[in-house]
Amino acid sequence: MLQTSLFLLMIVHVTRSWDPDAGLITSWTKMSGVTANASSGNYPERVLDGDDNTHWSSGSCLPTGYMTRPGLNVLLNLCRTSACQINGVSTSQGFHELTDASTYTSLQIDIGQNNKAMLTLDTSGKDFKQLSVWGGYHGDTHLKVVDSNGTETLIHTLTSSDNYQRKTFDISTQVNRISLESATAFRVTEIAALGRVNCLERIVVDLGVLRRIGVVRTRHWAGTNTAYSTSLALSTDGQTWDKVRDLQPSALHAVTTRLQSPTEYRYIALEYNVKLRNYNKVYCWEVDAYDEFGVWGAAPSAQPNPVCIRDMLGVNGIWGWGYNPKGQTLYSRVASYARNYHNLNWDVKDPDFDPQFDQMGEGHGTNASWWLNWDNEYGKWRAAGLQVDASIQFLNKTFGASVWNTPRQSAYNYGREFARHFGPQVGNGLVTAFEVGNEPWDYSADFYASVLKGMATGARDVDQIINVLPGAFQAYTIAPEEPKHGNYIGTRVKQGVSPFISAINMHSYSFITNDNGKRVATYPEHKDSTFNSIRNMIRWRDTNVPYKPIWLTEWGWDADGGQEDCAASECVTERAQAIYGARGLFLSARLGLARATWYFYANLPTCNTLFCRSGLTTSTKHNFTEKAVFHMFESVLSRLGEAHFRSVVTEDEHGYVYLFGPSGTTLQKITHLVAWLPVDAGDVSTRTVTLTMPMALTPVATWRLTGGDVAVTEDSNPVVDGLVMTLSLTTRPLIVQVQSPIPVSIIESGDKRKFETFFEM
Ligand SMILES: *[C@@H]1O[C@H](CO)[C@@H](O)[C@H](O)[C@H]1NC(C)=O
Ligand SMILES: *[C@@H]1O[C@H](CO)[C@@H](O)[C@H](O)[C@H]1NC(C)=O
Ligand SMILES: *[C@@H]1O[C@H](CO)[C@@H](O)[C@H](O)[C@H]1NC(C)=O
Ligand SMILES: *[C@@H]1O[C@H](CO)[C@@H](O)[C@H](O)[C@H]1NC(C)=O
Ligand SMILES: *[C@@H]1O[C@H](CO)[C@@H](O)[C@H](O)[C@H]1NC(C)=O
Repeated sequence: MLQTSLFLLMIVHVTRSWDPDAGLITSWTKMSGVTANASSGNYPERVLDGDDNTHWSSGSCLPTGYMTRPGLNVLLNLCRTSACQINGVSTSQGFHELTDASTYTSLQIDIGQNNKAMLTLDTSGKDFKQLSVWGGYHGDTHLKVVDSNGTETLIHTLTSSDNYQRKTFDISTQVNRISLESATAFRVTEIAALGRVNCLERIVVDLGVLRRIGVVRTRHWAGTNTAYSTSLALSTDGQTWDKVRDLQPSALHAVTTRLQSPTEYRYIALEYNVKLRNYNKVYCWEVDAYDEFGVWGAAPSAQPNPVCIRDMLGVNGIWGWGYNPKGQTLYSRVASYARNYHNLNWDVKDPDFDPQFDQMGEGHGTNASWWLNWDNEYGKWRAAGLQVDASIQFLNKTFGASVWNTPRQSAYNYGREFARHFGPQVGNGLVTAFEVGNEPWDYSADFYASVLKGMATGARDVDQIINVLPGAFQAYTIAPEEPKHGNYIGTRVKQGVSPFISAINMHSYSFITNDNGKRVATYPEHKDSTFNSIRNMIRWRDTNVPYKPIWLTEWGWDADGGQEDCAASECVTERAQAIYGARGLFLSARLGLARATWYFYANLPTCNTLFCRSGLTTSTKHNFTEKAVFHMFESVLSRLGEAHFRSVVTEDEHGYVYLFGPSGTTLQKITHLVAWLPVDAGDVSTRTVTLTMPMALTPVATWRLTGGDVAVTEDSNPVVDGLVMTLSLTTRPLIVQVQSPIPVSIIESGDKRKFETFFEM
C-alpha cells in the first residue's frame, strides 16, 4: 500500500523542478521596480537590500541641516517677497540673500532716514520654535519680535563679538514680525527658523504599483534616544496618507505591524520626529510588506495525516536523562520516541577517525570516550518503549571545517559505521533515525552540503530502512546567513542529496517580536508567530521532495512551575505551556507533520535564559516533578493517541475545530472532534459557536483539557441538531468523542489531491 501510494504522489509532482527558494514569500519591497527615497541623508536603498544590518541614515536637521528644507525652515525664501523691508522699504526683486539658506551670501543694511539701520521680516502665519541669525555688526544691534497681540520683546542685543556666528534663540509665542535695529550699519548673511513641526525625517518606499498590504515589517531602530516618535503611514498616491500606527523608535529588532484589514497601497512611509539636538540623526534598516499572511504565506489545505497523535509526539532527551533514575521510563508515558543530541566529538577525537563502534559494543569505549557505550544507553530507551532518533551534533565551533581532512569521505565513513552498528537493517537496530547535524549553522553552506551528502549516503549505502535526515533548517528567509546563522535550507539541502534522505527536519518555536522590539513567546495560532514557519517548509517540501514527511524535531514553550521560576522574556505560565502544547500538537497534526518532538524532557538546573524552563518536568533539583504540560500530553494521548487528524471544520479567530478519526480506507469515519479558541491562554472568556458539520456527528463523551492541576475534566456534550453543532469554546481545548454515520465518499469533494493522498495511507 505504502509503495503504491508513493509512486502515485511521485507521478503527481514529477514535473516540478527543484527550487531552492520554494519556501520563501517574497516581500513586496523585494520586487523589481521598487525604490526608496528619503527626506535627507545617505543610502535610502539600504532599506530594500534584504539585510537588517545595513541602514539609511538621515542627515542632521540641527544645527543647520534644516535650513535648505522648505518643510522645516519656515523662513526659506521669505525675502524673495515683500515680507522683508529695509528701513521701511521693500524692493521689487526682494532681498533673497537674507533667506536663501546660504551663509555665503549677505546684504548690507545701511542707516536710513531716522538715523537707524533696520531690517524687518513680516512673519505672520509662520509658526516657529527656533530662530537663527548670522551677521556682522559694528555696534549694538537689537533683535526684537512682535507677537500676535502687538507686544514687542527684545530677544537679544547682538554685538561685534557675534560676528558671522550662528546665534540661535528659542521662540515660545506666535511671532508676527522680526526686526533687527542698530544705530550703525550692519550686514546680515542669513535668517532661518525651524518650524513648530520639529525636525521631521521621512523615508518613503515606492512599490511602483498598488499591492495588497496586510503586514508591514520594519526594522526602524532610530538609535538610542534620538526620536520623539516614529510613525508608519501608507498611501495609494504618495499625496494622501493613512497613518497606520506609532512605532516605538527604540525597538531594536524588526517589528511586525498588522493592518486591521488588508488594503491596496503603493507607498510606505516611516516618519521620524527627531529630537532637537545638534547633529542628531535617525536610521531605518529594512522595510518589508506582505499580504495578510505575512512572511509565512497562507496555510496549506488540510490533508488527513497518516500518522496518529501518539506516533507524532516525542521528546528531546539526552544521555543519562540528566542523571534521572526514572529517565526513559518516565518520559515514555508521553512519547513514542526520543531524540538524542548525539555528540560527534564523543565518538571521534577527529572527524577523520573511525568511531570504533564495535570496540564500544564490547565495553571499550569509542575513539573519543573510553567510558561511553551507546548500546547500553539506547538499549534502555528502547526497553522503555521509545524509538531512538540520534541527532549527530557537530559544529564548526567543535569540529572546525579545517579539522576535516576529507569532509565528504570522512562523513561518509562515519555515516556508514553508524548505520552498520545501530541501524535496523544490518546493525543492532537500536536507532531508527539519524540526523546529519542538529543545528549545524556555523559551517558554510557548501561545507555542510558536502558533509550531508557524505554522511547520508554512507548511512544509506548500508541501511535502506534507517530514517536519514538533514540537520534542522528553515525555509522562510535567506537573510540570517553567515557567519553564524547559516540555517537556510535552500543553500544546504541540495537536489543531489534528496534521494538519500527520508524526511525534512526543522525546529519551530512560537515567538513574536513585540512593539518594543523584544522577542516574546505567544500562542501557536498567532498570525505572526514564528510557529507558522512550518508553512514555508511545507511549500519547500511540496516543490522539492513532495513524498517526504516533515519532522518538527524541536518545539515548545518555557514556563515556570514546580517551584522553578522562569526568567526569560519568552516565558509563559505553566498553564499556558500546557495548553499551547496541546494546541501546537493539534496544529502539527493538521499541517501533516509526521513528528513533533517536544523540547525539552526536563528543565535545566542552573540557568535563567530561554530554553532553561522548557521541560516536561522540573530539573533534577526538584526531582523531575511532572509539570502541567506533562499531564496535558498524557491526557491527550489517553483520549486521542490512536486518532489521526482528518479535516478542518473551521479555523478562524472565532474558533478552531478539527476532526480526528482512524487512518486508512475508512472514509470519513470520525471518532473525535477537537475545538478551542485560538487566543492567548490568559483570555478566560467562553464563546459559543454554532457550526455545520460535514456529516451528522453524535457526541458520546466530552472532556476539557484544562492545563491545570486536574489536567482534564468532563464537560457536557455539545448540543446537536442535525448537522448543526453548538460548542462552548475556551482557550482550553475540548475533546468530543463522537459517533459518525456510514462514510460518504471523499471523492465527492472533487479534490483530486485528497483522493490520492487518501489512498496513499
Ligand atoms: C526624493 O526626495 C527628495 C527630497 O524629499 C525630493 O527632492 C526628490 O524629488 C525625491 N525623488 C524622487 C525620485 O521621488
Ligand atoms: C495675547 O493676549 C491674550 C489675552 O491676554 C493671551 O491669552 C495670549 O496668550 C496672548 N498671546 C500672546 C502671543 O502673547
Ligand atoms: C582514535 O583513532 C585514531 C586514528 O585512527 C587513533 O590513532 C587513536 O589511537 C584512536 N584512539 C583511541 C582511544 O582508540
Ligand atoms: C569555522 O569557524 C572559523 C572560526 O573559528 C571561521 O574562520 C571559518 O570560516 C568557519 N568555517 C566555515 C566553513 O564556516
Ligand atoms: C528529592 O528526592 C530526595 C530523595 O528522595 C528527597 O530527599 C528530596 O527531599 C526531594 N526533593 C524535592 C525538592 O522534592
